[in-house]
Amino acid sequence: MKVSVIGSGYVGLVTGMGFVKLGNEVIFVDVDERKIKMINNAQPPIYEEGLEELMREFKGKYRATKDYRNAILNSEVTFIAVGTPSREDGSIDLTYVEQASREIGKVLREKKDYHVVVVKSTVLPGTTENVVKPIIEEESGKKAFKDFGLAMNPEFLREGVALNDFLNPDRIVIGVRDERTKKVLEELYKPIDAPKLFTDIKTAEMIKYASNAFLATKISFANEIGNICKKLGIDSWKVFEGVGLDHRISPHFFRTGIGWGGSCFPKDVKALIRKAEEIGEDPIILKAVVEVNEKQPLKLIELLKKHVPELRDKRIGVLGLAFKPNTDDVRETRAYIIVKKLLEEGAKVLAYDPKAMENFRRFYPDVGEQIEYASSGKEVLGRSDAVLIVTEWPEFEELDYSGKIVIDGRRVRKAEETAEIYEGVCW
Ligand code: UDX
Repeated sequence: MKVSVIGSGYVGLVTGMGFVKLGNEVIFVDVDERKIKMINNAQPPIYEEGLEELMREFKGKYRATKDYRNAILNSEVTFIAVGTPSREDGSIDLTYVEQASREIGKVLREKKDYHVVVVKSTVLPGTTENVVKPIIEEESGKKAFKDFGLAMNPEFLREGVALNDFLNPDRIVIGVRDERTKKVLEELYKPIDAPKLFTDIKTAEMIKYASNAFLATKISFANEIGNICKKLGIDSWKVFEGVGLDHRISPHFFRTGIGWGGSCFPKDVKALIRKAEEIGEDPIILKAVVEVNEKQPLKLIELLKKHVPELRDKRIGVLGLAFKPNTDDVRETRAYIIVKKLLEEGAKVLAYDPKAMENFRRFYPDVGEQIEYASSGKEVLGRSDAVLIVTEWPEFEELDYSGKIVIDGRRVRKAEETAEIYEGVCW
C-alpha cells in the first residue's frame, strides 16, 4: 500500500519505517528541512535501535517531503503523527493536529479516490470526531465516512524498543466507523500477528490514555508500597516478584525506584486529569499517582542526607540523566528534580550520562549550566563524595563502587555488592 505520514518525529518515523518493513511505500511529511534531508539520505534524525539499519536496507521505499499535496495525492492512507504537547496548565495543545487536518482537507478537495485518514497522535476522547473531522470536512467540502475514511489508531511504542514494539505488539487498537476504512486498516496490519481490537473512535482514543494511566498508576502504587517496605526493612523488589506471580496482576512494570518520566506518562496522565475535571469529575487516584511520582525522586536526597547530612560544598556524583536507559531523551527525567534539589542544598554536582548530557544541558539550562559533566562513570566515582544512581544504564553495572557511598534510585546490582555504604530507595 502507499502510505503517507504527517510528522516524522519519534512516533511518525518509527511507524512509517515499520510500514516500510511490512512491504509498503511511505512518504513522510515534515516542516523541518533538516529532518527531510536526513531521512532522504537514509539517516535517522533520532536515535532508535535498528532504525538506521532499516533505513539503509529499504532506501528507495520511502522519502520525505515538505509538500502535503504531493504526499497525499500519491498515497491511499495518511497517518497524522504530529506532537500533542502539554500547555502550562497540563491541558493538551492541538495546534499541530489542527494544522495537519487543515492541510489534509485542502488536498482531499481535489483527490478523486477514497482516502483514509488515521489519527496516530495521542488525543483525548472526542478529538478525532469533534476536531479533526470538522476541519477536514470544511477544507475538503467532503463528508467523513462517506467520501473519505477516518480512523483512530493509538501507538503503544516504548522508546528504545519502538521498532520491535511496532512489529510485535501486544495488540493493535483501531477505532473506526465505516466498513471501507476498517478493510483498509485490516489489510495494512495483516502481516502483524497480534490481537486486533476494533472499537468506535473515542473508545480507541480512551484506550491509549487508560493504558498509560494504568501503567503510571502501577509504578506509583509500587513505589508507595516500596516506601513502606523501606521503613519496615523489606525488599520491595522481592515483594513485587511475589505479587506479580498472580496472573491477574502480571510481573511486568513493577520496578520500584525514583519514579516515571518520559514524553508520555506525565503528559498523558495530566491531560486526562484536566479532561476529567473539565467534565465535573474528581480523578482522585490519578492525582495521587502524579503526587507520589513528584515526591519519589526526593527520597534519593533524603537517603543521601542520612549519610552526608550537610551537602553544602560536597561534590555529589549523578549517574544517569536520561529518563530511562538506552535513550538520549531527558523529557520529564527524574534527574532534573534531583539535580535541582542538590544545587538548592549547596552541593556541587558532577554528572555523567552515556547519551543524554548534551540534551540535559540544553533542555534544562537553569540547572544544566550549573553542573559539571564527567567523561565517564569512573570519573564520577573517582571525584565525588557520594554517588546517586538515577538511570539504570547497563554500563553502570560494570563500575567499581568499592569504598563509596552509593544511593541507588534504580537498583544497579553491582553497586550493592561493592559499595561501602549502599542504600536503595525502595529496598
Ligand atoms: C511509555 C509506554 O510504555 C508506551 O506504551 C507509550 O506509548 C509511551 O510511554 P516510554 O515513555 O518509552 O513508553 O517508557 P517506559 O519504558 O514505559 O518507561 C516510562 C518511565 O517509567 C521511565 O521513566 C521508567 O524508568 C519508569 N519505570 C518503568 C519504572 O520506574 N518502573 C517500571 O517498572 C517501569
